Amino acid sequence: MQTTNPKKVFVTRALPDEWLAPLRQVALVDVFTTAERPIDRSTLLQSVAGVDGIVSMLTDRMDDEVFEAAGTNLRVVANMAVGYDNIDLAAAAAREIVVTNTPDVLTEATADLAFGLILTTARRITEAERYLRSRQWKTWSPMLLTGVDVYGKTLGIVGLGRIGMAVARRAAGFGMHILYHNRQRNEDGESALGCHYRDLDDLLREADFVVVLVPASQGAKPMFSFREFSLMKRTAVFINVARGSLVNEEALVAALKTRRIYAAGLDVYGVEPVQPDHPLLELDNVVLLPHIGSASMDTRRRMAELAILNCRSVIEGLPPKTPVRF
Ligand code: DGY
Repeated sequence: MQTTNPKKVFVTRALPDEWLAPLRQVALVDVFTTAERPIDRSTLLQSVAGVDGIVSMLTDRMDDEVFEAAGTNLRVVANMAVGYDNIDLAAAAAREIVVTNTPDVLTEATADLAFGLILTTARRITEAERYLRSRQWKTWSPMLLTGVDVYGKTLGIVGLGRIGMAVARRAAGFGMHILYHNRQRNEDGESALGCHYRDLDDLLREADFVVVLVPASQGAKPMFSFREFSLMKRTAVFINVARGSLVNEEALVAALKTRRIYAAGLDVYGVEPVQPDHPLLELDNVVLLPHIGSASMDTRRRMAELAILNCRSVIEGLPPKTPVRF
């Protein structure tokens, strides 16, 4: 620990002490009191005053007001997430604040959850469990809770980046025909995994399962709305483990209610947590998870370690391992 002018870091959620130890070696670390809820705005603004670094969560809006409240010492915002749509990159750039994220370390966990949602939604697994637990099961019957097959079907991956490739590897094991749409062609995906490029409309027309894995950016218009759902097969399953802002939820609810598509599996929403009166909660043909894409113990530890390493590097004057380039 430095004795003169020690660096200061604020961490916006409680994390296990041993995860924070590498940061405490180089800075005075103040941590929000709980892991269970996001820090409220006024506490955040007070807590960041004079800090050199912030370790933030995807639930914290990091904008110019926060940077102003922190003051001119602030050098780094280290987000404990691969997504960084909670951070105003332009405002950070204007103040020469480094922004970092946690790619790679959550790729496999998130791909597992995406594939889990494919299986759960196709085979109505959570609906079937609710049926049994509510004591409705009387007998085996030929058509009871019949879903759709996954094996041999066509998967459409929108966003064939790191997580998309990991989903494609799982899909190959299920004998799926894999289509993808991306801003750029993915040569590796094509040669190693046999993924076939399509423009978005064709992918939506052909896929039995559409999985969204593109990054979201602040203020962008939803990529999936009435038109996109109207292009999909009536038997199609829509999976979103990226960000809720990519989807017009009113259009998705309409598509599910009218059976314009077969079902959806969601881990992310326009507003999180989902409010108690959200129409999605009334529908049987949607599987709803509370943003747990990366929620395995090992993965969360690796994400925290990387965010902390990034923060530590910048306040020590070193390049961070995984900067967000903007
Ligand atoms: C991320 O890191 O962006 C994920 O959404 C967290 O699960």
